[in-house]
Formats: sequence, structure tokens, C-alpha cells
Amino acid sequence: MAKGFAKEDLNTIPASLEVVKKTKKKSKADLKVVDKNAIKTTKYSDINLNKWKDYAHVFTNTLWTFPSRLKEHGHSNDYHGNYIPQVAQQLYERFTKKNDIVLDLFFGSGTSGIEAINMQRRCIGVELKDELAESVSEKFTPKQLVTDVNIICADSTSELAKEKVKARLDIMGEKQAQFLILHPPYDDIIKFSDKKEDLSNCETTEQFYDMFEKVAKNGYDLLEKGRFAALIIGNSYKHSQEIPLAFKCMERMANLGFVLKATIVKDIQGNERAKGRTANLWRYRALAGGYYIFNHEYIFIMQKV
Ligand SMILES: C[S@@+](CC[C@H](N)C(=O)[O-])C[C@H]1O[C@@H](n2cnc3c(N)ncnc32)[C@H](O)[C@@H]1O
Repeated sequence: MAKGFAKEDLNTIPASLEVVKKTKKKSKADLKVVDKNAIKTTKYSDINLNKWKDYAHVFTNTLWTFPSRLKEHGHSNDYHGNYIPQVAQQLYERFTKKNDIVLDLFFGSGTSGIEAINMQRRCIGVELKDELAESVSEKFTPKQLVTDVNIICADSTSELAKEKVKARLDIMGEKQAQFLILHPPYDDIIKFSDKKEDLSNCETTEQFYDMFEKVAKNGYDLLEKGRFAALIIGNSYKHSQEIPLAFKCMERMANLGFVLKATIVKDIQGNERAKGRTANLWRYRALAGGYYIFNHEYIFIMQKV
């Protein structure tokens, strides 16, 4: 067994057992059980480890590049600041089982929910902006909104949001969620609203970290033990220096008890509308000011142990 993996992470479900006798001795002790069609999974994914070579499409390295954004299967690039659906696909396949509940506390345009439906998972999304929560609901059928996707309009830092999520979990027959996605505003890089509860409206970056930590704490409490969380975030530039937003937020999560499992660097080229138009200006600024232009953001994989 690979170093770092706990035996209890593995979950073997025998399908058709076949008993094969060894040729040398025929005593009962020498009977070997060979399970040709056994499905061996972890407790948190449906990937059949006995057929691991069939999963070439599932990433196991830490550098993620995608040639282009997926725009089919319910997705549209209609929200400045959304993440690309292929990220959800990768994460769900690695860290969720069919029918699991994904909790997204910064739901935005609902990428996590759309992909949950596409991959037969369920989702609870919390979004601060009521008009957005309402318009995103229209991306789902009335039936899906009853059984598979629950959209809550609330401030994810609050106790009230936590109580609302608990109530929805209860309706969906669960006590806690099986996967947590946190894709917060990157401080004030994009202003999402004028609301004071909006993480993109904080007066200082320190206040942003504090508010993020409150959301992460709610997420921690609402996540099942042993399950995973993904924090999707990039760094920023402020006052002529790079601010390690991503790492500070990851640290706040670690302080809450999440264990860091992976730091993924994700290519964002072609994903930044504004910078495409002003590429030369950015290049000039980089050369003149000793900067580099961000081509990546981070996905931290963390586990509630
Ligand atoms: C980076 S976007 C998330 C985009 C989303 N992942 C998607 O693919 O569309 C961050 C979202 O968090 C929301 N937000 C900011 N502060 C919040 C808070 N206190 N509670 C809930 N949502 C909040 C913003 O309105 C924005 O839609």
C-alpha cells in the first residue's frame, strides 16, 4: 500500500467470487479466493481501483491545464468570476460518489450545481445575491430543485446560513455534506455587490481573511468527517506587492482542522476576459514594475480528518 494511505480508506465490494485451487497442494488452507470482478473503491469516490488504468482522464498530478472552457451541458460563461466546469468534473470524480451532496458556499452562477446534476450528484449552494440566486434557479428544472439542487440565498458567514443548510440536508436525508467547494471572491479583485456581507467588499484584506474563515468554519461543521474540501482561489496584487491570498485562506482552513492534501496549480489563460483586452498594458506594467502576470490560480484539496 502506498505511503500515506490508510487501510480503512479502502472499501472492497465483492461482486462475483470465484474460488481457484492452487495446483501444488489441495488442502483447504491453500484455497485462494480470486475475485475477478470485485469493485474496490475508497470511501469517498466511485473510482474502481481494480480498474485504475481505465481512469486516464482523471488527473493525479498538480498542474492542471484545460484547452478551453466547456460551454455545453447546461454551462454558459455568463458570470464574471465563475470557475470552469472541468474543475468540478475532476473534483467530483476524485472526491464524491454518485448521489453525494456537494456544498458550495459561494454558489455564484451555479457551476457546482450544474455539474452535480450532469454527474448524478446532488448540491446545496449558498449565494448572497438574491437576484442571482433567483436567476440561477432557472437553470434547473422544478423537479431538480426539489430533489437534487437546493439554492439558498444567505450570507455564508452567518449562523443563519448554517441552520438553513442543515434544514435542507435534513430534507435531502443527510446530516452533513460529502464534499465542500469554496470559491470565494479574490478579495476585492471583482466587486460582486455593494452588500456589506459580501467578501469582495471588505475594507481590509485582514477583514477578508476573517470573513472567509467564518465561511470555512460553517463549511467544516457541515462536512462529513473523512470527506474533502476544495478551495479555489488566486493571489492578488495590492500596493505594489503580491498578496498571498490563496495561501492565507488555506492556512485559515488548516487552523480550523482541515488537513492539506494537495496544492494544485491551475492554468487560467483564456479564462480572464478583461486581461485579454489589455494584455499589452499588463505586459508593460510587468516589465516596468518587476511583476509577473498571473497565469494560474490554486486549488487546495483539504480533508476533514
Ligand atoms: C468567485 S464567485 C463564485 C463563482 C461560482 N463558483 C461560479 O462558478 O459561478 C464568488 C461568489 O460569492 C458570492 N459571495 C460573496 N460574499 C458572500 C457571502 N458572504 N455569502 C455568500 N456568498 C457570497 C458573490 O456574490 C459571488 O457570486
